[in-house]
Amino acid sequence: MKVLSVFGTRPEAIKMGPLVRALGEAPGIDSQVCITGQHRAMLDQVMSLFDIVPDHDLDVMLPDQTLNGLCARLFERLDALYARVQPDRVLVHGDTSTAMTAAVAAFHRRIPVGHVEAGLRTGDLSRPWPEEMNRRVIDVLADFLFAPTVRSRANLLQEHLGGTILVTGNTVIDALQQTVRRLEQDAGLRAQLDAPLRMLDPRRRLLLVTGHRRESFGQGFEDICRALAALAARTDLQIVYPVHLNPNVQGPVHAHLGHLANVHLIAPQDYLSFVRLMQRADVILTDSGGVQEEAPALGVPVLVMRDVTERPEAVEAGVVKLVGTAPQRIIEAVTAALQRPAQSRRFDPDASPYGDGRASARIVAALRGAPLPEFAAARRASAIASSTSCEVTP
Ligand code: UD1
Ligand code: UDP
Repeated sequence: MKVLSVFGTRPEAIKMGPLVRALGEAPGIDSQVCITGQHRAMLDQVMSLFDIVPDHDLDVMLPDQTLNGLCARLFERLDALYARVQPDRVLVHGDTSTAMTAAVAAFHRRIPVGHVEAGLRTGDLSRPWPEEMNRRVIDVLADFLFAPTVRSRANLLQEHLGGTILVTGNTVIDALQQTVRRLEQDAGLRAQLDAPLRMLDPRRRLLLVTGHRRESFGQGFEDICRALAALAARTDLQIVYPVHLNPNVQGPVHAHLGHLANVHLIAPQDYLSFVRLMQRADVILTDSGGVQEEAPALGVPVLVMRDVTERPEAVEAGVVKLVGTAPQRIIEAVTAALQRPAQSRRFDPDASPYGDGRASARIVAALRGAPLPEFAAARRASAIASSTSCEVTP
């Protein structure tokens, strides 16, 4: 069976990395990888870390690309690729333009589609935008729906879709587990990763920030920057912010925060370095999907700069808090979270409602027609609630 995995952005590569490895080792599967190049530098960082050499690279990224321009290039190049490679199955991940176009282009050629990370929903097409639409479109046409959690399966069942649903856990926990093991086993590597951050003061608390959502461009990012500038006035705090390469993010962030001594604006980090940074952080402030899933497993409190999330499991368990983008609410939430004493960080896959490190194995087994027992997420809710509480009461 020829299985073509198609992905194109940083988070997709992190979450498909362990699966591509498992597919490569599976008997009876001829695994091929197509990267679309929707991202470039941020994607290439991950490819080299996971040691994946793509079979096909569509190289579609343009600076400040529009959604329609991007999708047009993707449809055209993917269609030509499918005609040439003739895969028996296409695998896509999540909710990006790459994933949506790769799924629709496969559907048009009657190639079966497997959706990794199926069934996440906010119920609001404008948040996250355009991702909520992308995810729904893929789920309508996929014949294999790999739902990370029981909740995501319930969302799919409500929509009466045709595909086979399997609860696998999220492959992000596979990636995180492999990365943390690597870090734990190698003190030299940890020192090497810490070296570029030697400006950090061990006596100050560390706030790690990421942000890139399209629905926050403009006023949302202005507000986020205003909140960070106010927080930077604290002498017991330091802020590290790896800035996404999107010009709509780079512009306001550098204009508002570039001159503040207490705010370290750094380039997007490779995954090893970023996991190390998450482990060192006292609080994470983010709008990222992946970080919402990773931080609970690392025992780090997370404040999410959004009003709704398609990942409600950790919010319900009390380890992730939605704080929106209004400056006062962000400032109060960070202040409250920092009142908790510093804690030692320990990776605990049992503390994650999102996975147990075996999602890739479950997906490969299902593709080979010998499914493994599903991910049992429900029993984890109480374990995670007791391990890391956000305890913020703005
Ligand atoms: C995309 C996804 C989003 C995902 C995010 C992860 C869509 C519609 N959006 O958003 O779901 O959460 O990736 O980060 O699929 N750029 C570079 N180099 C890079 C990457 C980006 O220069 O390596 C710049 C380019 O100017 C590019 C712009 O960022 O045009 C936007 O990239 P794009 O992939 O369209 O959108 P993201 O906001 O990154
Ligand atoms: N990440 C990274 N380097 C960074 C920032 C984030 O490797 O500088 C990782 C992070 O750990 C997570 C993923 O990138 O696994 C999330 O990517 P992003 O926030 O861009 O996208 P989203 O998850 O929101 O789609």
